[in-house]
Amino acid sequence: MASLTDDLQQLLRDFTQKLDGAETEQSVRKAYADYGGANGAIRARQKELLKAAPNAEKKAIGQATNEVLQKVDAAFAAALKRLGDAAAAKDLERTVDVTLPGRAHRLGHLHPITLARREIEAIFSQLGFTVAVGPQVETDFHNFEALAMPKDHPARDMQDTFYVDGSPDVVLRTHTSPVQIRTMLAQKPPVRIIVPGTVYRRDDDATHSPMFNQVEGLCVDEGITFADLKGVLLHFARRFFGEKIGVRLRPSFFPFTEPSAEVDFTCVFCGGSGCRTCKGTGWIEIGGSGMVDPEVFRYVGYDSERYSGFAFGWGIDRMAMLKYGVDNITAFFEGDVRFARQFK
Ligand code: PHE
Repeated sequence: MASLTDDLQQLLRDFTQKLDGAETEQSVRKAYADYGGANGAIRARQKELLKAAPNAEKKAIGQATNEVLQKVDAAFAAALKRLGDAAAAKDLERTVDVTLPGRAHRLGHLHPITLARREIEAIFSQLGFTVAVGPQVETDFHNFEALAMPKDHPARDMQDTFYVDGSPDVVLRTHTSPVQIRTMLAQKPPVRIIVPGTVYRRDDDATHSPMFNQVEGLCVDEGITFADLKGVLLHFARRFFGEKIGVRLRPSFFPFTEPSAEVDFTCVFCGGSGCRTCKGTGWIEIGGSGMVDPEVFRYVGYDSERYSGFAFGWGIDRMAMLKYGVDNITAFFEGDVRFARQFK
């Protein structure tokens, strides 16, 4: 009898040895199945013992086996706990310093052209102008004809037009002025609109992009004069660039305005004393302007005896270049985040 139980004790020792050497939960479970499980070595030994033993000893064999199996279960549970504790301890070694500052995520922000456009819109909306928009693919009629540029008009050459699908009547708008026509065809005076929008010309160098953005202004009512134009431009220049900025209007020509004037602002870089950017003149060219030509009123059905108006237009990109000191227009369209991030 003593030797029989010794047998079971030996199996128990083998089992605990296996457990001590086990480094994974998987090998612990395998050892348990091999020894303590229903088909394990201990049960098998028990069966052999019972078979061989006289009846009187069977009870004792059963008891001895159960005691051993209890120890097997306990050792199995202890081994699982040992592995679990080790894993938890290892987890803690991976130190987390909760006092470290968090990682900041970069916030997105607006593109400098959007910033400039919104500021322009805000300044004019305070003067009672509303924002109007129109299509970028335009008809020849809106882009040229109704702006007093019939087909053979030499001023069309100034515009370096992209034609769409080879059609002579469909163009990528070369300026925002067609929205003047669309607005006046759709409503009666008074009109006070500001028109931001993307326009296209076959032009490509450091200061010209084939796609760029303009803003157009149009004001039509009874008794509008050239002085109103200058007053509005001066107000805008000071709000946008600063109180020291002046406005100069130089005689010019546009088919849809009469008289027409080139708009200059005091050079924002030297304040008017003369520098490289303004080529020593103290002024920089901003855009075009003038009094709406009666010919345009004829196209849209306005009475030019009763109404008069002024219009102006310039590049938003150029405004942004001047305001933020950007000397290459392509920087706006390259999509380099390092560039864009500078304009908070
Ligand atoms: N549309 C003209 C251009 O793009 C600018 C302009 C607008 C001139 C309004 C006069 C009046 O060149």
